[in-house]
Amino acid sequence: MTTLTVLPSGKSYDVAAGTSLLKALQSVGEAIHSKCGGEAKCDACHIFVPVGRKSLSKTQRQENEKLDGIVGVSSNSRLACQAILGEEAVTVELLK
Ligand code: FES
Repeated sequence: MTTLTVLPSGKSYDVAAGTSLLKALQSVGEAIHSKCGGEAKCDACHIFVPVGRKSLSKTQRQENEKLDGIVGVSSNSRLACQAILGEEAVTVELLK
């Protein structure tokens, strides 16, 4: 288990390591969107990760290519469907 904190609400949840941020956020009822079913094709799950980026799985080529085309992308950007939770606490900021 690890701790997932969600901004702007500031709520924290215990979630399972080894699951994607998208699935973890959906499992706790946070409003995260997915139009492609987690295939890194829609960019609806774009979020910022201000804390704990190193705890997440590394960004792969398909995610990088999708992020490159998103307006408002930052160095903290991830696609929630592609980022797998590790053991350390993570804070995410929902954008939509
Ligand atoms: S759910 Fe479509 S890119 Fe993540």
